Amino acid sequence: MSVFTGLENYSIDEKGRLMIPAKFRKELESEEGVVLYMMKMQDKSILLYQKKEWEEVEKELKVLSDFKKEERNLKMFFYSNSEKVELDRQGRIMIPKRFLEDCGITKDVRIVGAGNKLAFWSPQNLEASMTEISQMDNLVTGEGVYIDGTLGGAGHSEGILLRLKERKLLEGSVVYGFDKDEDAINYSVNRLAGYGDKFRAFHRGYEAIVGYPYETAFRINEVGASSVRAKGIVLDLGISSHQINEKQRGFSFLGDALLDMRFSKENPFTARDLVNSYSMDELVEVIKNYGEEPKFRAITKAIIKQRAKKEIRTTAELARMVDSFYGNPREKMKARARVFQAIRIEVNHELDALRCFLDSFEDVLEAKGRLAIISYHSLEDRLVKQRFKHVTTEDWGPKTLMNTEPLRVPTFQAITKKPIYPAAEEIKGNARSRSARLRIIEKI
Ligand SMILES: C[S@@+](CC[C@H](N)C(=O)[O-])C[C@H]1O[C@@H](n2cnc3c(N)ncnc32)[C@H](O)[C@@H]1O
Repeated sequence: MSVFTGLENYSIDEKGRLMIPAKFRKELESEEGVVLYMMKMQDKSILLYQKKEWEEVEKELKVLSDFKKEERNLKMFFYSNSEKVELDRQGRIMIPKRFLEDCGITKDVRIVGAGNKLAFWSPQNLEASMTEISQMDNLVTGEGVYIDGTLGGAGHSEGILLRLKERKLLEGSVVYGFDKDEDAINYSVNRLAGYGDKFRAFHRGYEAIVGYPYETAFRINEVGASSVRAKGIVLDLGISSHQINEKQRGFSFLGDALLDMRFSKENPFTARDLVNSYSMDELVEVIKNYGEEPKFRAITKAIIKQRAKKEIRTTAELARMVDSFYGNPREKMKARARVFQAIRIEVNHELDALRCFLDSFEDVLEAKGRLAIISYHSLEDRLVKQRFKHVTTEDWGPKTLMNTEPLRVPTFQAITKKPIYPAAEEIKGNARSRSARLRIIEKI
């Protein structure tokens, strides 16, 4: 198998052809001749596969069912955004015009080695995407304890470990991961097994970081970190793609499953319990406040009416109810997303966890330690923004008091003056990342 590495700057010629740099060309020619496959991604990159690699991807698609809407859509997305291309004798390929237009490529192209494939980007989009990745660089500033409060698939934990390794800081460091989801813990432990005792996972909410006497709870020094306090903490809030894609978890508003939406199976309260037991006022509160859904009252009434006849059990039943208040398919999807988000937040007490953490994270960090939080909706971001403002600014009290000294001095400084809006989630083409906002502060 070929491994493509490095980055080259090339230009499209007037006939729309792109010369593949000699070092990549050699690999492409040597393995599979000249037939290649291109795929346009949602994050505005174009991927180029060798035939053998492409066949591997196709094999995975073949097992998807044409009778399940979501699986059928995935196949359609894949095939409608891919094209067979050929490398000509001069080592050039013709990139389809619609790919170039959709990916904002006019003349200049960045050709990036992406392991078993090549990726093409416009210079602007690549830079935006890399900004996001390099933000994690901002968290790793030296040896110490790093905490990934929302492990998920361990992307951030691995990013931290890799950077520590690259900078020869691993020896005096350790990464602790937290997640409420058992699947996330098992997956991450497996993924990061190669790091030995430099990574440890805890099946708990990240709010536990501030709720326990810190050293005793996690026996931080056991693994030889240089300090008991944290050098960096990252929270990537909300739901993981794994949770959305695992249908039986009942998070997805596409397809059908029992309404569940619990991060942790230890939580006895499911989305089904919520929908069937909350009072009118409670439901209004959740759908209005956590979903910011304009038709909150009508949807609540429909839920109450429906459940009086028969218990609401599945995601599809709930989705149909929401759909009935909207005409256009796009609007229906957006409304489903808002209502499902609202219920998920309530089932998992997501805002309570965030508030609890924000109230008392200060002591967990060492001097110069950094906190990075990625949020996905305005409710979370508002809490983060307010708290970060509080700890990074002076408080002089009401003007009428004419204080000569501030009542409180800043204990943190802002590393990101404005939130960073990622262009793409680590080149994965994840639509969810569109609403992501990253804020970072550093302890003084
Ligand atoms: C967006 S995902 C994290 C993705 C992760 N950064 C990665 O690289 O794959 C959010 C994760 O946070 C977890 N989570 C949500 N609230 C939590 C909490 N209060 N404590 C711990 N984990 C939480 C979810 O179960 C989910 O796995």
